[in-house]
Amino acid sequence: MTTTIIFLFLSVVATEKIPIPYDIIRDFKGIVPVKIFTADELKDYGGSDPTKPIYLALKGVVFDVSTRREFYGKNAVYNRLVGRDSTNAVAKMSLHETDVSKAHDISDLSETQLKDLEQIFHQVYLAKYPIVGFMDYLLSVEEFAKQIKPQDEL
Ligand code: HEM
Repeated sequence: MTTTIIFLFLSVVATEKIPIPYDIIRDFKGIVPVKIFTADELKDYGGSDPTKPIYLALKGVVFDVSTRREFYGKNAVYNRLVGRDSTNAVAKMSLHETDVSKAHDISDLSETQLKDLEQIFHQVYLAKYPIVGFMDYLLSVEEFAKQIKPQDEL
């Protein structure tokens, strides 16, 4: 009985994934074809090279945060969050490596943290920063293309 309960609990937790933000994708009038980033590619935009833009991914959406180099650039207070997907850490308002390294894993987030994440996502990142692409764990280029209506492509 206990084993069944534990199994059911783990199954629910393990399948918790970030939902694909179809509304954002449909409204996306950025670079076409869209850039889909791997975690490795995103590392190049971690703020250490002053000639490159700085990217931060949240919920699989990649934002260009270069306008706030004083927060996110080399040795800056929030540099640890960039060049990667920082969903877990931002939801917890944590700069601990254990949380930052959890990337887009949302399985250990509480209801409150999930709500905080939504708020930060909309009120800070969507409101302030341009979207430059999406993470490959969210969707492929082909899946992205299917979400864009033909009249939106130009
Ligand atoms: C005592 C602790 C902290 C204080 C006093 C503080 C204060 C602030 C302030 C005043 C700003 C806004 C700056 C502005 O827009 O001009 C800011 C931005 C920010 N904070 Fe903190 N913070 C703290 C801890 C944290 C922690 C632990 C995180 C971990 C995720 C965090 C993440 C951020 C991020 C990502 C931004 C930039 C948001 C943006 O791009 O506009 N902060 N913080």
